[in-house]
Amino acid sequence: MNLTRLVYYSQRNPSLSLNMEELLEVCKRNNAAMNVTGILHYNGNYFLQVLEGGRAEVSAIYHRIAADPRHVNIILMSASDVRERIFPTWSMGLHEGMGEETKQIFLRYFPSNNVNPEAVSVDSLLDFLQDVSTELS
Ligand SMILES: Cc1cc2nc3c(=O)[nH]c(=O)nc-3n(C[C@H](O)[C@H](O)[C@H](O)COP(=O)(O)O)c2cc1C
Repeated sequence: MNLTRLVYYSQRNPSLSLNMEELLEVCKRNNAAMNVTGILHYNGNYFLQVLEGGRAEVSAIYHRIAADPRHVNIILMSASDVRERIFPTWSMGLHEGMGEETKQIFLRYFPSNNVNPEAVSVDSLLDFLQDVSTELS
């Protein structure tokens, strides 16, 4: 199996309703069935997501996600073969919010706590997501 890691970010579509609990259930169900794992960070505006798994599976899920009208301005940052998963634990781990602790973590990697993924590198985003993932159970 080719193991692939895909990273993208997007913005919530403010005109459509979004139920994160429901969304997470669907992510978990579909991803588990395809042996895909990852993490989704949502700060109320931006989504940052990492998908890890077989190349065909990650690709299929990403195409579905990219067609979802609940988010817009979807920017694919990277999709590449990797030796191992960074996020093997969750079929989709959700980290929500930008509280004080999360802001401090953000400042480890980025010059200001202005959350602007357009100004960040994929490596810094992965480091940030890895650090906030320690808060997930
Ligand atoms: C920000 C965001 C992240 C999503 N992540 C996933 C995901 O990891 N896996 C998944 O199957 N669907 C994900 N979805 C939902 C898909 O866009 C789509 O609604 C879903 O896969 C349809 O599944 P269903 O046909 O089983 O209802 C995501 C949607 C959004 C808006």
